[in-house]
Amino acid sequence: MIETMSDTAHLNVGDQNIEIPVITGTEGEKALDISKLRNSSGLITYDVGYKNTGATTSAITFLNGEEGILRYRGYSIEDLAEKADFLEVSYLLVNGELPSKDDLEKFKKKITMHTLLHEDTKNIFEAYPTGSHPMGQLMAMISSLSSFYPGSLNPYRENDERMLSIIRLIAKMPTMCAMIYKKQMGHPVMYPKNSLDYVENYLHMTFGNVTEEYEVDRTIADALDKLLILHADHEQNCSTSTVRIVGSSHVNLYAAVSAGVAALWGPLHGGANQKVIEMLEAIKADGGNYQKWVDKAKDKNDPFRLMGFGHRVYKNFDPRANIIKDSADKVLAKIGIHDPILDIAKKLEETALNDDYFKERKLFPNVDFYSGIIYRAMGFPTEMFTVLFALGRLPGWIAQWKEMRDEQQPIGRPRQVYTGSQSRDFVPMENR
Ligand code: CMC
Repeated sequence: MIETMSDTAHLNVGDQNIEIPVITGTEGEKALDISKLRNSSGLITYDVGYKNTGATTSAITFLNGEEGILRYRGYSIEDLAEKADFLEVSYLLVNGELPSKDDLEKFKKKITMHTLLHEDTKNIFEAYPTGSHPMGQLMAMISSLSSFYPGSLNPYRENDERMLSIIRLIAKMPTMCAMIYKKQMGHPVMYPKNSLDYVENYLHMTFGNVTEEYEVDRTIADALDKLLILHADHEQNCSTSTVRIVGSSHVNLYAAVSAGVAALWGPLHGGANQKVIEMLEAIKADGGNYQKWVDKAKDKNDPFRLMGFGHRVYKNFDPRANIIKDSADKVLAKIGIHDPILDIAKKLEETALNDDYFKERKLFPNVDFYSGIIYRAMGFPTEMFTVLFALGRLPGWIAQWKEMRDEQQPIGRPRQVYTGSQSRDFVPMENR
């Protein structure tokens, strides 16, 4: 039994009374600090999937899932999506404060100076079978930067060296993502053009080609910039926790972020944006019987889940999904595309939201439900969607890695409750 008293909780186990300090965050969130529990009682805590475990304190992102609040460094996601650009938000996440005009110009200039990839990178790309999944390539390409920049391998280097790795990674990420796309299409690689801004440059390297000048469409560039901001950080999610735990061994930044990309790829996390479109296509091909698919998702004997629905922390609405849904309507109208998939998404959402199963479990559309529809309208193939999520999430991963290292946090190493065989004698082969 645990009863909380002011700033100390008391845990009674048998005849032991254990005092547990309670810590409080700046938004009033309370947590039991059990870090010394084992020393005093021999007990550990048990929480598969870390559903109710705070693995760190953090000053980067605040999220209130019940009220649908998301803030980066105290600024609301709605304000940032409306008023800032992606590199400004990246600066904010990594450095903790909004940049002055001068700071931002310098930051953007530094990023622009590092957009090129080493030419040897092309050899790595050439080794991939055409058609291999972009996320597998992205993981490997990010981690390969450690080979090109061995200065990043020394985790105890000065701040300047570490900042250079951060700048390089932010600068080269769009170039790598675009190269992956070109490889996928079998098209020649486009080099960065430093007169363009971050998102324009990415669009140029992706959709531009060597035969004619690519004209950036402002509607598309603005919409993509906004999508990147919406994905930029999300506190201790699966990929971010991965970056932190891998980085806690003091491995280099590129390796830690590459591990984050691996975690993001899964269909329960960032990979859901690809799966949503595949699901909507399947529903369309099946004649648009929404109820049938909602019923499938409710059937506990069927592994199918409604992709783009539900969230570990949002239990009311996902504020990012609301902004994206609005943006999807505007972008499609401006580009002049009517995508029947959007109609299917809206009807599916309506059917699910009116269903008791989804209401009782507080399952709402998440960030991935509508983002794929916009990426598709922009011309990205489905397999690139999670790469776009990674491009957006990059500054968040970096900021969380940097915070963890700045605070000199210990290596991540969870405990377990062992449930296997007790000690037994080895049985020689002839007796088995
Ligand atoms: N379709 C049908 N049932 C669902 C769904 C869904 N999409 N999501 C959750 N449930 C059910 C689940 O079966 C469980 O039911 P019961 O209580 O009867 O056993 C209940 O709702 C709670 O689900 P959970 O699996 O315990 O919740 P979780 O917090 O472990 O999982 C989730 C969160 C996002 C993995 C899950 O909702 C899911 O698999 N959603 C679909 C994949 C998806 O859209 N992922 C993107 C998440 S947002 C982008 C990001 O940041 O990663």
